Amino acid sequence: MRNRYVIANWKMNLPPEGIGAYLDELGSAPKRDARLIVAPPFVYIPEVVRKGRGIAVAAQNCGDQKSGAFTGEVSAAMLHDVGARFAIVGHSERRNVYKDTDEMIGRRMAMALENGLTPVLCIGEDLRVRDAGGVAEHLSSQIRAVSSDALGLSGEVVVAYEPIWAIGTGRNASGAMVAETVADIRSALQRHWPSSRWDAPILYGGSVTPDNVGDLVANGNIDGFLVGGASLDSRKFLAIYDGLVGRLARA
Ligand code: 13P
Repeated sequence: MRNRYVIANWKMNLPPEGIGAYLDELGSAPKRDARLIVAPPFVYIPEVVRKGRGIAVAAQNCGDQKSGAFTGEVSAAMLHDVGARFAIVGHSERRNVYKDTDEMIGRRMAMALENGLTPVLCIGEDLRVRDAGGVAEHLSSQIRAVSSDALGLSGEVVVAYEPIWAIGTGRNASGAMVAETVADIRSALQRHWPSSRWDAPILYGGSVTPDNVGDLVANGNIDGFLVGGASLDSRKFLAIYDGLVGRLARA
C-alpha cells in the first residue's frame, strides 16, 4: 500500500493558537494509517522539530543549488541538518509569484532527493487550462519537465495535485474530478518517470476543509492532502486527518 500523508502548509503564517499549543494538540491525537506533517516557514523548523513529538517536518521549498552565492535561498542539506525530512517544491505560489521555472523546480527536487529529503512536487492547472480541456497535457508537461537522474536515487517522491483555481478560493475540486485527474497523473508518471516512481503517493490540495474531506476521500482516489488555510487551526487540521483515516471528527 502507498504511504498516506496529511501535510499542513502554513505558508507565511503561524497558527493563531501558537506553535506549542498547536503541536500539543496534534501530538495528543492518535496516529493511524497516515502520517501528519507540518510545513512551517523555514525559521520555525527547529522549533517544530523540537516540540513536534515525532510529527514530521517539511520545508516549504529548498534551494536548487548545493551552496554558494544564492542570497535568500536555503539548501536541502541545511534543511535536513535542522530536522526537516520533506520539502515542498513547485508550489504554484512559487511558480507564479516568485517565477520558479520547471527547470528550477527539477533542480530543487533533485537537491531534496540527494540530501535525504522527500520532495513533495506540486502540480496543477489554472482555470484557463481547465476550461480549454488541457488539464492532462498540462500536468504531463509539468511532470516531464522535472524528470532527472535524481529520480533513480532511493527515497520517496510525493506528488501533490493542487489546481490553482482551488487554492485559497473556497472552491475545491470535487472527488470525481480529482479521481479523473489522478488517473491522468498516474499515466503521465508512467510515460515520463522511471518505473520505481509510478506508484508515488498522490495528494490533493486546494480549499480542503473538514466539510469537503468526505467526498474527496470517498471519491478522489488520493493518498492524502496538502492543506493551506484550514491547517492553521489544529482542530480543523485533525478533522481533515480523521476524515482520511476514517474516524469521526473529534468533539
Ligand atoms: P488552501 O487549503 O488554503 O486552499 O491552500 C492549499 C495549498 O496551497 C496548500 O499547499
